[in-house]
Amino acid sequence: MSDLLSSLDNAVSVLRQRAGAAPDVAVVLGSGLGAFAETLADATVLPYAAIPEWPSSAVVGHAGKLVVGTHASGARVAALSGRAHLYEGHHVSRAVFGVRAMARWGVPRILLTNAAGGINTAFTQGALMLIEDHINLLGANPLVGPNVDALGVRFPDMTYVYDRELRAMAVEAAAAVGVPLQQGVYLATMGPSYETPAEIRAFRALGADAVGMSTVPEAIAARHMGARVAGISCITNPAAGVVDQPLQHDEVMETAARVRGQFIALLDAFIARMVKA
Ligand code: HPA
Repeated sequence: MSDLLSSLDNAVSVLRQRAGAAPDVAVVLGSGLGAFAETLADATVLPYAAIPEWPSSAVVGHAGKLVVGTHASGARVAALSGRAHLYEGHHVSRAVFGVRAMARWGVPRILLTNAAGGINTAFTQGALMLIEDHINLLGANPLVGPNVDALGVRFPDMTYVYDRELRAMAVEAAAAVGVPLQQGVYLATMGPSYETPAEIRAFRALGADAVGMSTVPEAIAARHMGARVAGISCITNPAAGVVDQPLQHDEVMETAARVRGQFIALLDAFIARMVKA
Protein backbone atom coordinates (compact mmCIF):
# COMPACT_ATOMS: atom_id res chain seq x y z
CA MET A 1 0.00 0.00 0.00
CA SER A 2 1.26 3.52 -0.74
CA ASP A 3 2.56 5.61 2.15
CA LEU A 4 -0.18 8.12 1.48
CA LEU A 5 -2.93 5.52 1.68
CA SER A 6 -1.60 4.03 4.88
CA SER A 7 -1.25 7.54 6.41
CA LEU A 8 -4.81 8.36 5.44
CA ASP A 9 -6.10 5.06 6.75
CA ASN A 10 -4.31 5.59 10.09
CA ALA A 11 -6.01 8.95 10.43
CA VAL A 12 -9.39 7.63 9.32
CA SER A 13 -9.30 4.76 11.80
CA VAL A 14 -8.90 7.30 14.63
CA LEU A 15 -11.68 9.44 13.16
CA ARG A 16 -13.97 6.38 13.08
CA GLN A 17 -13.09 5.37 16.64
CA ARG A 18 -13.58 8.84 18.06
CA ALA A 19 -16.35 10.26 15.86
CA GLY A 20 -18.07 7.30 14.20
CA ALA A 21 -19.31 7.16 10.62
CA ALA A 22 -18.42 9.80 8.06
CA PRO A 23 -20.32 13.08 8.45
CA ASP A 24 -22.57 14.46 5.69
CA VAL A 25 -20.45 17.55 5.09
CA ALA A 26 -16.95 18.75 5.97
CA VAL A 27 -16.35 22.49 6.22
CA VAL A 28 -12.82 23.90 6.15
CA LEU A 29 -12.93 27.19 8.03
CA GLY A 30 -10.71 30.02 6.83
CA SER A 31 -8.86 32.69 8.79
CA GLY A 32 -11.14 34.30 11.36
CA LEU A 33 -14.09 32.13 10.33
CA GLY A 34 -13.72 29.46 13.02
CA ALA A 35 -16.82 30.47 15.02
CA PHE A 36 -19.03 28.18 12.92
CA ALA A 37 -17.42 25.17 14.62
CA GLU A 38 -18.81 26.32 17.98
CA THR A 39 -22.38 26.11 16.64
CA LEU A 40 -22.28 22.29 16.32
CA ALA A 41 -24.10 20.33 19.03
CA ASP A 42 -22.94 17.16 20.82
CA ALA A 43 -19.51 17.82 19.42
CA THR A 44 -16.46 15.61 19.48
CA VAL A 45 -13.42 17.86 19.44
CA LEU A 46 -10.16 16.41 18.16
CA PRO A 47 -7.09 18.65 18.28
CA TYR A 48 -5.15 18.00 15.07
CA ALA A 49 -2.29 16.68 17.18
CA ALA A 50 -4.58 13.83 18.31
CA ILE A 51 -5.07 12.59 14.73
CA PRO A 52 -2.15 10.57 13.30
CA GLU A 53 -0.25 12.28 10.48
CA TRP A 54 -2.44 15.40 10.53
CA PRO A 55 -0.34 18.54 9.88
CA SER A 56 -0.48 21.35 12.39
CA SER A 57 -1.24 24.96 11.52
CA ALA A 58 0.40 27.74 13.45
CA VAL A 59 -1.36 30.73 11.88
CA VAL A 60 -2.96 33.26 14.19
CA GLY A 61 -6.73 32.95 13.76
CA HIS A 62 -6.60 29.22 13.06
CA ALA A 63 -7.49 26.94 15.95
CA GLY A 64 -6.08 23.61 14.76
CA LYS A 65 -8.89 21.25 15.66
CA LEU A 66 -11.49 19.05 14.06
CA VAL A 67 -14.99 19.45 15.49
CA VAL A 68 -17.55 16.79 14.56
CA GLY A 69 -21.10 17.45 15.64
CA THR A 70 -24.72 17.91 14.76
CA HIS A 71 -25.76 20.95 12.79
CA ALA A 72 -29.10 22.72 13.35
CA SER A 73 -30.38 21.08 10.14
CA GLY A 74 -29.75 17.65 11.65
CA ALA A 75 -26.76 17.08 9.34
CA ARG A 76 -23.60 15.65 10.82
CA VAL A 77 -20.84 18.11 10.08
CA ALA A 78 -17.07 18.00 10.45
CA ALA A 79 -15.59 21.46 10.87
CA LEU A 80 -11.87 21.79 10.21
CA SER A 81 -10.93 24.81 12.23
CA GLY A 82 -7.52 25.70 10.89
CA ARG A 83 -5.67 24.46 7.82
CA ALA A 84 -2.09 23.93 6.76
CA HIS A 85 -0.82 26.44 4.20
CA LEU A 86 2.04 26.17 1.74
CA TYR A 87 3.53 29.40 3.07
CA GLU A 88 4.07 27.73 6.46
CA GLY A 89 6.49 25.43 4.69
CA HIS A 90 4.10 22.50 4.34
CA HIS A 91 4.53 20.48 1.19
CA VAL A 92 1.38 20.74 -0.90
CA SER A 93 0.64 17.04 -0.37
CA ARG A 94 0.66 17.68 3.41
CA ALA A 95 -1.49 20.79 3.06
CA VAL A 96 -4.31 18.67 1.59
CA PHE A 97 -4.04 15.87 4.14
CA GLY A 98 -7.10 16.97 6.12
CA VAL A 99 -9.35 17.20 3.09
CA ARG A 100 -8.11 13.85 1.82
CA ALA A 101 -8.76 12.29 5.22
CA MET A 102 -12.34 13.62 5.06
CA ALA A 103 -12.90 12.14 1.60
CA ARG A 104 -11.25 8.85 2.58
CA TRP A 105 -13.50 8.71 5.67
CA GLY A 106 -16.40 8.92 3.19
CA VAL A 107 -17.50 12.53 3.55
CA PRO A 108 -19.32 13.24 0.27
CA ARG A 109 -19.32 17.07 0.27
CA ILE A 110 -16.53 19.43 1.15
CA LEU A 111 -17.11 23.13 1.66
CA LEU A 112 -13.92 25.19 1.53
CA THR A 113 -13.96 28.67 3.02
CA ASN A 114 -11.28 31.31 3.15
CA ALA A 115 -10.43 34.93 3.71
CA ALA A 116 -9.47 36.64 0.47
CA GLY A 117 -8.52 39.98 -0.96
CA GLY A 118 -11.02 41.56 -3.34
CA ILE A 119 -9.70 42.11 -6.86
CA ASN A 120 -13.11 42.83 -8.37
CA THR A 121 -13.73 46.48 -7.47
CA ALA A 122 -17.48 45.85 -7.23
CA PHE A 123 -16.86 43.77 -4.07
CA THR A 124 -17.17 45.61 -0.78
CA GLN A 125 -15.08 44.75 2.23
CA GLY A 126 -16.90 41.96 4.09
CA ALA A 127 -18.68 40.63 0.98
CA LEU A 128 -19.10 36.88 0.66
CA MET A 129 -18.17 35.31 -2.70
CA LEU A 130 -19.20 31.91 -3.96
CA ILE A 131 -16.23 30.43 -5.80
CA GLU A 132 -17.20 29.64 -9.41
CA ASP A 133 -13.77 28.55 -10.53
CA HIS A 134 -10.12 28.99 -9.63
CA ILE A 135 -6.74 29.91 -11.06
CA ASN A 136 -3.80 28.04 -9.60
CA LEU A 137 -0.71 30.26 -9.41
CA LEU A 138 0.79 28.39 -6.46
CA GLY A 139 3.31 26.69 -8.68
CA ALA A 140 2.32 23.47 -6.94
CA ASN A 141 -0.29 20.77 -7.41
CA PRO A 142 -1.13 18.16 -4.74
CA LEU A 143 -1.37 15.42 -7.37
CA VAL A 144 2.28 15.67 -8.45
CA GLY A 145 4.09 12.37 -7.91
CA PRO A 146 3.00 8.80 -8.49
CA ASN A 147 -0.77 8.67 -8.80
CA VAL A 148 -2.53 6.74 -6.05
CA ASP A 149 -5.10 4.95 -8.18
CA ALA A 150 -7.17 4.03 -5.12
CA LEU A 151 -7.81 7.76 -4.61
CA GLY A 152 -8.50 8.87 -8.17
CA VAL A 153 -7.34 9.00 -11.77
CA ARG A 154 -4.00 10.32 -13.03
CA PHE A 155 -5.48 13.25 -14.99
CA PRO A 156 -8.66 14.35 -13.24
CA ASP A 157 -11.05 16.72 -14.98
CA MET A 158 -11.16 20.23 -13.55
CA THR A 159 -13.95 21.63 -15.73
CA TYR A 160 -16.38 21.35 -12.84
CA VAL A 161 -14.31 21.71 -9.69
CA TYR A 162 -16.96 23.67 -7.84
CA ASP A 163 -20.08 21.53 -8.07
CA ARG A 164 -22.85 23.20 -10.05
CA GLU A 165 -25.69 21.79 -7.96
CA LEU A 166 -24.02 22.88 -4.75
CA ARG A 167 -23.45 26.34 -6.24
CA ALA A 168 -27.13 26.63 -7.11
CA MET A 169 -27.99 25.62 -3.54
CA ALA A 170 -25.65 28.26 -2.14
CA VAL A 171 -27.33 30.94 -4.26
CA GLU A 172 -30.77 29.79 -3.08
CA ALA A 173 -29.59 29.65 0.53
CA ALA A 174 -28.19 33.19 0.36
CA ALA A 175 -31.45 34.53 -1.08
CA ALA A 176 -33.49 32.69 1.54
CA VAL A 177 -31.58 34.22 4.45
CA GLY A 178 -31.07 37.62 2.81
CA VAL A 179 -27.27 37.44 2.74
CA PRO A 180 -25.79 39.07 -0.39
CA LEU A 181 -23.60 36.56 -2.22
CA GLN A 182 -21.18 37.53 -4.97
CA GLN A 183 -19.76 34.97 -7.39
CA GLY A 184 -16.33 34.90 -8.91
CA VAL A 185 -12.97 33.34 -9.64
CA TYR A 186 -10.50 32.72 -6.79
CA LEU A 187 -6.81 32.93 -7.59
CA ALA A 188 -4.31 31.25 -5.26
CA THR A 189 -0.80 32.51 -4.65
CA MET A 190 1.83 31.05 -2.35
CA GLY A 191 2.24 34.04 -0.02
CA PRO A 192 2.98 34.78 2.74
CA SER A 193 3.78 38.27 1.46
CA TYR A 194 0.70 39.96 0.12
CA GLU A 195 0.60 40.78 -3.58
CA THR A 196 1.94 43.92 -5.19
CA PRO A 197 -0.46 46.32 -6.93
CA ALA A 198 1.08 45.27 -10.28
CA GLU A 199 0.34 41.61 -9.49
CA ILE A 200 -3.24 42.47 -8.62
CA ARG A 201 -3.69 44.34 -11.93
CA ALA A 202 -2.24 41.33 -13.72
CA PHE A 203 -4.56 38.93 -11.83
CA ARG A 204 -7.55 41.10 -12.72
CA ALA A 205 -6.56 40.90 -16.39
CA LEU A 206 -6.35 37.11 -15.99
CA GLY A 207 -9.96 36.99 -14.85
CA ALA A 208 -9.58 36.72 -11.07
CA ASP A 209 -12.09 38.32 -8.68
CA ALA A 210 -10.42 37.40 -5.39
CA VAL A 211 -6.96 36.35 -4.23
CA GLY A 212 -5.83 34.17 -1.36
CA MET A 213 -3.25 31.67 -0.16
CA SER A 214 -5.27 28.47 0.27
CA THR A 215 -8.22 26.42 -0.97
CA VAL A 216 -7.01 25.52 -4.49
CA PRO A 217 -4.88 22.50 -3.49
CA GLU A 218 -7.73 21.24 -1.29
CA ALA A 219 -10.25 21.66 -4.11
CA ILE A 220 -7.99 19.73 -6.53
CA ALA A 221 -7.37 16.91 -4.04
CA ALA A 222 -11.04 16.63 -3.12
CA ARG A 223 -12.12 16.53 -6.78
CA HIS A 224 -9.45 13.94 -7.50
CA MET A 225 -11.11 11.74 -4.89
CA GLY A 226 -14.59 12.37 -6.25
CA ALA A 227 -15.93 14.47 -3.38
CA ARG A 228 -18.29 17.30 -4.30
CA VAL A 229 -16.67 20.66 -3.64
CA ALA A 230 -18.03 24.11 -2.89
CA GLY A 231 -16.12 27.24 -1.92
CA ILE A 232 -16.95 30.52 -0.21
CA SER A 233 -14.53 33.44 0.18
CA CYS A 234 -14.94 36.22 2.69
CA ILE A 235 -13.57 39.36 1.03
CA THR A 236 -11.77 40.70 4.07
CA ASN A 237 -9.91 43.54 2.34
CA PRO A 238 -9.50 45.24 -1.01
CA ALA A 239 -6.51 43.57 -2.70
CA ALA A 240 -3.22 45.47 -2.86
CA GLY A 241 -3.41 48.76 -4.73
CA VAL A 242 -7.21 48.73 -5.04
CA VAL A 243 -7.12 51.41 -2.37
CA ASP A 244 -3.99 53.36 -1.49
CA GLN A 245 -3.16 51.76 1.85
CA PRO A 246 -1.06 48.83 3.11
CA LEU A 247 -2.55 45.40 3.88
CA GLN A 248 -2.52 43.95 7.37
CA HIS A 249 -3.47 40.55 8.74
CA ASP A 250 -5.31 42.33 11.60
CA GLU A 251 -7.68 43.85 9.07
CA VAL A 252 -8.35 40.39 7.63
CA MET A 253 -9.25 39.11 11.09
CA GLU A 254 -11.38 42.15 11.96
CA THR A 255 -13.45 41.92 8.79
CA ALA A 256 -13.94 38.17 9.19
CA ALA A 257 -15.15 38.79 12.75
CA ARG A 258 -17.51 41.53 11.60
CA VAL A 259 -19.28 39.30 9.04
CA ARG A 260 -19.35 36.23 11.30
CA GLY A 261 -23.15 36.42 11.72
CA GLN A 262 -23.83 36.56 7.97
CA PHE A 263 -21.24 33.90 7.25
CA ILE A 264 -22.81 31.51 9.76
CA ALA A 265 -26.34 32.29 8.52
CA LEU A 266 -25.26 31.50 4.96
CA LEU A 267 -23.50 28.28 5.98
CA ASP A 268 -26.51 27.19 8.04
CA ALA A 269 -28.93 27.64 5.15
CA PHE A 270 -26.49 26.15 2.62
CA ILE A 271 -25.80 23.03 4.68
CA ALA A 272 -29.52 22.56 5.34
CA ARG A 273 -30.13 22.55 1.56
CA MET A 274 -27.21 20.26 0.84
CA VAL A 275 -28.45 17.50 3.10
CA LYS A 276 -32.12 17.86 2.14
CA ALA A 277 -31.38 17.41 -1.56
N1 HPA B 1 -4.16 38.54 -0.49
C1 HPA B 1 -3.89 37.24 -0.26
N2 HPA B 1 -4.49 36.53 0.69
C2 HPA B 1 -5.42 37.15 1.45
C3 HPA B 1 -5.75 38.50 1.26
C4 HPA B 1 -5.08 39.23 0.23
O1 HPA B 1 -5.33 40.43 0.01
N3 HPA B 1 -6.70 38.80 2.19
C5 HPA B 1 -6.92 37.67 2.90
N4 HPA B 1 -6.15 36.67 2.46
